[in-house]
Amino acid sequence: MYLGLDLGTSGLRGLLVSADGHAVGDASATYDVQYPNEGWSEQDPEDWVKACRSVMSSLCHKYSKEYRSLKGIGVAGHMHGATCLDDAGKVIRPCILWNDTRAAKEAAELDGQPAFRAVSGNIVFPGFTAPKLLWMARHEPNNFARVAKVLLPKDYLVYWLTGELTSEMSDAAGTSWLDVGKRDWSEALIKGSGMRLDQMPTVMEGSDVVGPVRREIASELSLLANVAVVAGAADNAAAACGIGAFREGQGFVSLGTSGVLLAAKDNYAPEPASAVHTFCHAVPGKWYQMGVTLSATDSLNWLAETLGTKAEDLAKNLPDSVTGPSSVRFLPYLSGERTPHNDAAARGAFIGLSKASNAESLCQAVMEGVGFALRDCLEALKSTGTDLPSVLAIGGGSSSPFWLQTLANILNIPLHLPAKGDFGAALGAARLAMLGVSGRLSAEVMVQPSIQQSFEPDPHFTAAYDAAYLKYTKSYSALKELM
Ligand code: XUL
Repeated sequence: MYLGLDLGTSGLRGLLVSADGHAVGDASATYDVQYPNEGWSEQDPEDWVKACRSVMSSLCHKYSKEYRSLKGIGVAGHMHGATCLDDAGKVIRPCILWNDTRAAKEAAELDGQPAFRAVSGNIVFPGFTAPKLLWMARHEPNNFARVAKVLLPKDYLVYWLTGELTSEMSDAAGTSWLDVGKRDWSEALIKGSGMRLDQMPTVMEGSDVVGPVRREIASELSLLANVAVVAGAADNAAAACGIGAFREGQGFVSLGTSGVLLAAKDNYAPEPASAVHTFCHAVPGKWYQMGVTLSATDSLNWLAETLGTKAEDLAKNLPDSVTGPSSVRFLPYLSGERTPHNDAAARGAFIGLSKASNAESLCQAVMEGVGFALRDCLEALKSTGTDLPSVLAIGGGSSSPFWLQTLANILNIPLHLPAKGDFGAALGAARLAMLGVSGRLSAEVMVQPSIQQSFEPDPHFTAAYDAAYLKYTKSYSALKELM
């Protein structure tokens, strides 16, 4: 039996997976995000530990036999967060999260040093880890002086479980400190942001075994002795493991809080100017590229909340079939944008409202706006030479057939919706534990789910969506100077 833990932005999920790859049962616990200032977003790492204790205790009660035969644990988590520890291993300040934009100035400064794009293969985005530490050096010098190690969020849970200070390639690739092609820390980048190599944890591959769960934690969590913990993965890399996307040409579109279009890569082929992210995969020797739009279901939830309803209820009122683009345009830049604009200051807009505009048409416009943002991601991926013949569709928004058909028309590639079941980041993390402990091959463990439904682009409407997409791209440039 294996356990995958997924440390999400709003909660932690644990999934028990049998040695033959079947999901046995799960448990979850939630925690909050603190927003102490405009653009700030923080979490207390102690809340992750509390959530982990609660998830483990639920799993132990609900599935006691399976839980007690656990052999390995893998942890996935949200990326880019800076969890700073002092030399006694104590957390210095709340973790600064991936969607925190306070370090935009520092990010631009680091991005201006040519070595960062050349060696890390990526733009230094404001949410990445290195600029956060530069911000701390300038604004919290006392905290900064105490930093002995910087851990990524899920690496803190691995540290709590094992006592070892480690990270792994897929998450470390989002720090701006990793030489993503060489799969190792870059001392030049670390120094270039005012840090030291000894402040970095040991970097491993995702399926490498970090060590057993510490004896006192194993006894507190009622685990057998010697349950191995593997280094794990960043959430998107883990999701790719969960749906079996690790070979060239395989990929997914995720309609989650943020929207992601991910393509697995056999080789390292960065193209930072496109604002595509090029990161190491959690599967050893593989990479992936992705475009990220920051507000996907976040945009729909915002609209629903503003209209005093729920996103599911808004979506339910849409027609059964998709008959072409709306005349209302929505720019989903509620929290700025990454791909392709790298613009933390970008903001959202509705364009083309009339007296006929109602909750339904606004909902359609929001879904299309997110779709156009993902088309931007697809065009950015294509500009790097990456081809995605079709993708799997995952994330909360994939429960709306209207949204998926709209997206297939906009992207002009087929989308495959997996059959109900487990294929998320927690499954990916459990699969990494399985690889590390059993020594089995990625090809045997990282299999694709069965497909429930495919959404083909409708040739009657693709030209109309192309035309609407062109207007969408022009809207950003036209409105930029007015924001
Ligand atoms: C990826 C990114 C998000 C976070 C939160 O670059 O910022 O996907 O990992 O899920």
